Formats: sequence, structure tokens, C-alpha cells
Amino acid sequence: MSPSVAKLLSFLLFFASFTLVLSGTVQKEGSTCTVHASRDASDDAPAILEAFRLCGTDGVIQLHDPLYHIESVMETIGLSNVQVDLTGRMLWGTNITYWRNNSLPLGYQNQSTAWVFGGDHVTFDGHNIGTFDGNGQIWYDFADGISNLAGRPISLTIANSTNSHYTGIRFVQSQFWSMAINRSENILLENIYINSTSNNSSPIQNTDGVDTFYCDGITFRNWTVVNGDDSISMKANSTNILIQDSVFFNGAGVAIGSIGQMDGAFEFISNVTAERVVAIGTHFAAYIKTFTGVQQGFPPNGNSGGGGLGFATNLTFRDFTLHNVTGNVAEITQCTSFEGLSNECDTSLFQISNITWGPGITGSIQSDTLASMQCSGDAPCPGIALLGFDDITSVGGREFKCNNLVNPIGFNCTGST
Ligand SMILES: *[C@@H]1O[C@H](CO)[C@@H](O)[C@H](O)[C@H]1NC(C)=O
Ligand SMILES: *[C@@H]1O[C@H](CO)[C@@H](O)[C@H](O)[C@H]1NC(C)=O
Ligand SMILES: *[C@@H]1O[C@H](CO)[C@@H](O)[C@H](O)[C@H]1NC(C)=O
Ligand SMILES: *[C@@H]1O[C@H](CO)[C@@H](O)[C@H](O)[C@H]1NC(C)=O
Ligand SMILES: *[C@@H]1O[C@H](CO)[C@@H](O)[C@H](O)[C@H]1NC(C)=O
Ligand SMILES: *[C@@H]1O[C@H](CO)[C@@H](O)[C@H](O)[C@H]1NC(C)=O
Ligand SMILES: *[C@@H]1O[C@H](CO)[C@@H](O)[C@H](O)[C@H]1NC(C)=O
Ligand SMILES: *[C@@H]1O[C@H](CO)[C@@H](O)[C@H](O)[C@H]1NC(C)=O
Ligand SMILES: *[C@@H]1O[C@H](CO)[C@@H](O)[C@H](O)[C@H]1NC(C)=O
Ligand SMILES: *[C@@H]1O[C@H](CO)[C@@H](O)[C@H](O)[C@H]1NC(C)=O
Ligand SMILES: *[C@@H]1O[C@H](CO)[C@@H](O)[C@H](O)[C@H]1NC(C)=O
Ligand SMILES: *[C@@H]1O[C@H](CO)[C@@H](O)[C@H](O)[C@H]1NC(C)=O
Repeated sequence: MSPSVAKLLSFLLFFASFTLVLSGTVQKEGSTCTVHASRDASDDAPAILEAFRLCGTDGVIQLHDPLYHIESVMETIGLSNVQVDLTGRMLWGTNITYWRNNSLPLGYQNQSTAWVFGGDHVTFDGHNIGTFDGNGQIWYDFADGISNLAGRPISLTIANSTNSHYTGIRFVQSQFWSMAINRSENILLENIYINSTSNNSSPIQNTDGVDTFYCDGITFRNWTVVNGDDSISMKANSTNILIQDSVFFNGAGVAIGSIGQMDGAFEFISNVTAERVVAIGTHFAAYIKTFTGVQQGFPPNGNSGGGGLGFATNLTFRDFTLHNVTGNVAEITQCTSFEGLSNECDTSLFQISNITWGPGITGSIQSDTLASMQCSGDAPCPGIALLGFDDITSVGGREFKCNNLVNPIGFNCTGST
């Protein structure tokens, strides 16, 4: 071509690249992809997806800019031997119409998510500063007490993952649950900070720290969870779960369930240990909740269901320090129904057994009921132990309320629930 045409072309290219550089970009050097945030606050999700496409196998993904805007859903699964390094803040957009129409299905309970993530040998390091900011206040205001609002997204779902390590990540103002872990094995999540706090009177229900489904071999270590619902919750088919050295504020404490939601389905939770936990102003230290034996409403909505089968066994909650726990230290309910009916409490066939709270639980509750254990008349609970509860300070009385326990260990029931 002639020199003048070449000059014109390079001139045009200069302007084209000048325009392009406003949106997020990926810089690839060897197997390391660095994502540069957009200059115009536009959606950085396409650039992040591109980085995972280029470097998601045997690579490194760096998110080192101070702020990334996420305006669309992300799916980065099937990763292999990859290290993700986040030192910036990822800020999720506020287009509720978009998220409710587009958030990705979790594959359980009609829940959905903003980012599905996972693979084998993945390390995700936030260096105690990398932050997921869900802009959750708009969701707390919008949901305004509606539980499990369809399409309200979980911030991060770890799916179909093995042999992976998550550390030093912060979740603030999550839209819904901060995390779900689905169909995964051998995962360590440590040094995780979660804080979903409403700045007005809007309730913050459904801000669970994390929920597990179809998981085996998950360790949660050194978590701080400030929220308005379950701090850490194990749901269907969760086994060999360890929770250690964590602090829970305001939420519900360690939750087993809800479970038994799907009529006729068989699900289980076993081998769960939570130890060295500090619970500050939570509702419980640890509690277990199953749906009734009669389906009410229409699942998979998170609020409806019942009639599920299966078991929860070998769960241990020990060495807890309690500060102003508002409800009971220990609770079992097989009455869970959000549909208003409450006369089906003896119908669940879901079998609860071999659950131990203690020893080593100390501190105070702002209630006169240390334990409230309502097992189903159709599936009474053997092997329920409360060890060393003399060390816990209550207000007023010291009630142990029970229904349908078989040979409780370490305590005598004082009445029914
Ligand atoms: C899980 O991921 C592996 C590859 O990482 C894939 O082969 C498999 O099909 C996935 N399973 C599901 C249920 O998505
Ligand atoms: C889905 O999007 C359409 C328009 O794009 C909107 O009318 C509808 O309300 C949205 N649905 C939800 C649940 O937000
Ligand atoms: C929000 O998302 C909807 C559905 O995707 C879209 O139609 C609408 O233009 C978006 N609103 C804004 C302000 O971007
Ligand atoms: C626990 O996690 C926090 C971040 O939430 C971190 O600052 C702290 O260093 C961690 N503690 C240990 C002992 O690693
Ligand atoms: C949680 O966040 C709220 C609001 O940002 C803040 O006031 C509070 O100190 C935080 N709690 C903890 C334990 O970090
Ligand atoms: C839970 O595991 C059991 C036994 O492996 C299996 O039969 C059941 O289908 C699983 N539940 C679900 C909902 O996948
Ligand atoms: C529970 O732990 C015991 C002892 O480690 C083990 O033998 C058993 O297989 C575990 N149960 C499940 C369901 O993984
Ligand atoms: C119960 O689970 C713990 C791990 O939480 C395990 O060490 C123990 O062996 C299990 N006991 C039985 C009887 O399976
Ligand atoms: C499940 O979610 C979809 C899409 O988010 C919604 O349209 C539907 O109403 C929900 N179903 C129930 C039973 O909540
Ligand atoms: C527990 O409540 C008492 C009285 O309301 C208060 O003085 C104390 O600071 C609270 N402790 C914690 C750790 O919040
Ligand atoms: C509960 O513990 C008892 C006594 O240790 C044991 O015999 C029984 O098999 C356990 N039940 C289950 C379901 O593991
Ligand atoms: C339960 O009551 C029996 C009979 O009064 C008593 O011998 C036993 O010490 C009590 N157990 C506990 C843990 O208080």
C-alpha cells in the first residue's frame, strides 16, 4: 500500500485502540492473564471471562486494579491448575431487573447465582483485601422481608470442584447468600471475612455466609461472618465437614438444614464438627432444622416443601464461646414450614441421631432455655448429648425443652417445646 494509506490506517488504528481501551482488557504474558478494569465504569465481566478463557488451565489470573464493575453473570467452570489473585474490589451492579432475569441456576431449591466458579486444583487468594461487594443494600430494600425472592443471586457458587483452596477473600454487602458450594470435594476455605449488614430497617434474611450441597471433605477455618441468617449451613448430602476457629456475629450460628424439603427424596448430613467458635449475638450456637413430613406449598421455592427422607448423624459442636446468644444454645426442630401450618411437627420421617453439643461451651445466653429439642414423633432422636452445659450462664431459668428424644445424654428434659 502507499505510504499515505498506511499513514491513514495507523491514524485510524490509533483512534480505534483509544476507544477500545475504555472497556476492560486482558494483558497476557506467558500463562498469566492480568485484567485491567474499564476506564468508563462499564462491565468488566467480559474481560474477566476472557482472562479465564485464556489462562484458566495451568495459568494465573490477576485482578489487581482497585475496582472492577460486574454488570453481568459469569460462569468460569472446569478450571484446572489455576491461581486467581484478587487484590481489588469487585462491585456488582444494581440492575435488579437484569439479575433477576439472568442469574444462573444453582441446581437446587430454585436458588441462583451471579458467578459460578470451579475446577480442579484452583487457588483463589484475596490476600485479606480482595473483596466481593454485592451492593446488597438494594437487595435488602427490594426484598423487604420476602424470603428466597426468586432470582436474587448468591454472590459466588463454587461448583463441581475438587482439591481447591480459597483464602483471604472478603464478602461485603452480599446480594443473598455470600457463597454456595455445590458438588465439590476436598476444599479448604480459610481466612474468609463476610459482613452483610443493613444500614436501615430492611431485614437481612437469606444473607447466609455459605451453604453446602452434595459436598464431601470441606474445611472452613478462620471465618468471620457478620450477617442476618445462617452463619454456615450444611444442606443436602454434605459429609465430612470441619468448621474451626471462627467468629459469628448476629446471624443464626451453625445450621444443619433446612433439609427434608423434597417429598420422597433421600438426603443426608453426617460427620460434621464445629469447634473453637465464638458466637456473638447469634440466635443459636448450632441448630438443626428439617421440614415436616407433609409437603406444604410448592418447592423448589426455598420456603415450601416437606416430606423428605434421610438422616443427619454424627454432628459435634464443641468449644464454643457465647456472648449474648439471643435464643438457645442447642436447637432441633422438625417443624420447619414457612407456609403457616404448624400442626405437622410429628410427621417428619427424617432421622436425626448422635448429635453432641459440648464439651467446652461457655459464656452467656439472653434466654432461660439452654436447649429446645423438638424431634418428630414419627422419628424420635437417639444419641442427643449436651455435655458441660453447667458452664453456660442463662437469664432466669435453665430449661431443657424436649419432644421425642430417646435416652438423652448429659441432661434431663424439663418440659416440652
Ligand atoms: C465436572 O467437571 C469435570 C471437568 O472438570 C467434567 O468432566 C464433569 O462433566 C463436570 N461434572 C458436572 C456434573 O458438571
Ligand atoms: C425480566 O425482564 C423484563 C424486561 O427485560 C422485565 O419486564 C421483567 O420484570 C423482568 N423480570 C424480573 C423478575 O425482574
Ligand atoms: C437493566 O436490565 C434490563 C434487562 O436486562 C435492561 O433492559 C435495562 O436496560 C437495564 N437497565 C439499565 C438502567 O441498564
Ligand atoms: C484470620 O482471617 C483474617 C481475615 O479475616 C486475617 O486478617 C487473619 O490474619 C487470619 N488469622 C490467622 C491466624 O491466619
Ligand atoms: C460489619 O459492617 C458494619 C457496616 O459496615 C460495621 O459497622 C461493622 O463494624 C462490621 N462488623 C465487623 C465485625 O466487622
Ligand atoms: C444424596 O445421596 C444419595 C445417596 O448417594 C442419593 O441417593 C441421592 O440422590 C442424593 N440426593 C440428591 C438430591 O442428589
Ligand atoms: C464418617 O467418618 C468415619 C470415620 O472417619 C468414616 O469411616 C465414615 O465413612 C464417614 N462417613 C461418611 C458418610 O463419610
Ligand atoms: C464422626 O465424624 C468425625 C468427624 O467429624 C469423625 O472423626 C468420626 O470418626 C465420626 N464418627 C463416626 C462414628 O463415624
Ligand atoms: C423459580 O425461579 C424462577 C426464575 O427465577 C421464577 O420465575 C419462579 O417463579 C421460581 N419458582 C418458585 C416456585 O419460586
Ligand atoms: C452483651 O450484652 C451486655 C448487656 O446488654 C453488654 O453489656 C455486653 O457488652 C454485650 N457483650 C457483647 C460481647 O456484645
Ligand atoms: C449412633 O451411635 C451409636 C452408639 O455409638 C451407634 O451404635 C450407632 O450406630 C450410631 N448411629 C448412627 C446412625 O451412626
Ligand atoms: C437427671 O435426673 C436423675 C434423676 O433425678 C439424676 O439422677 C441425674 O443426675 C440427672 N442428670 C443430670 C445430668 O442432671
